[in-house]
Amino acid sequence: MTKLQCQAPALPDEWQAPHSVGRALELARRFAVDAADARLLLQHVLALTHAQLIARPERLVPAADAEHYVQLLRRRAAGEPLAYITGRREFYGLDLVVSPDVLIPRPETELLVEIAISALAALPSPQILDAGTGSGAIAIALGRALPGASVTAIDRSTAALAVARENAARHGVAVEFLQSDWFAALAGRRFDAILANPPYVALADPHLAGEIRFEPQSALVSGVDGLDALRQIIAGAPQHLNAGAMLWVEHGFDQAPAVSNLFRAAGYSAITTSRDLAGLPRVSGAKLA
Ligand SMILES: C[S@@+](CC[C@H](N)C(=O)[O-])C[C@H]1O[C@@H](n2cnc3c(N)ncnc32)[C@H](O)[C@@H]1O
Repeated sequence: MTKLQCQAPALPDEWQAPHSVGRALELARRFAVDAADARLLLQHVLALTHAQLIARPERLVPAADAEHYVQLLRRRAAGEPLAYITGRREFYGLDLVVSPDVLIPRPETELLVEIAISALAALPSPQILDAGTGSGAIAIALGRALPGASVTAIDRSTAALAVARENAARHGVAVEFLQSDWFAALAGRRFDAILANPPYVALADPHLAGEIRFEPQSALVSGVDGLDALRQIIAGAPQHLNAGAMLWVEHGFDQAPAVSNLFRAAGYSAITTSRDLAGLPRVSGAKLA
């Protein structure tokens, strides 16, 4: 095979003539890209809203934009998450910047945010810690919903913290960001609530070969049983919680019994587990007596 034959053409044959938005969306089928994803990619390339895109399906796609769109379709067809391709993900009503340095915030994590907001709303100025902040999703959602709160967010990854800082600035939410290996940089500091969505995937979990392979391993994997980070956080948090304060953690759908045992072993009380929208046990919380 010659070098020329090895290279994928910049545009498929059908693209050699100018095409409309409507035709561009139809052509996505030949890449086996989901129609909704193709629409979002074309919106991204043309910098149009959904309403603007569908208002004029006859609008012509300029050649340079068509080429860009096809490149993005190819990336999506190869399994790259849409959020990394567009650099954006919506979380709790916030438009967040994301990059491959951070976990793509998940809808399940909104449950963690909701539980904390309803429990903390009555406190005039709660001190809150988001441990393992990634894109800053949890910290920024809490800071926006609880204007009297002081929110601190830590992560071991400086690259993730840069993304989180950018998101906090874009949304005008004040968050104290610190680089820290869990509680290492927080000696002597206590909070009214700690939230964590830590890595909780087991090392040999077959899902790691799927689309999540594009996300940072350090945000996903936590030891042989996926519980290493949860063990450290649950054991370490009591030194950083005020009396009567809460720790809430997100965990795998099958990890709730193990997490409850970890809470009990560390002397917490009032242990509860909440289910996500799929009905799976997803967030557990407990109080420091
Ligand atoms: C599952 S991601 C959660 C990100 C974000 N909170 C969210 O819900 O989208 C876990 C985060 O924990 C961070 N992390 C992993 N190990 C850590 C450690 N030892 N100390 C601090 N952060 C850590 C990762 O860098 C990652 O950003």
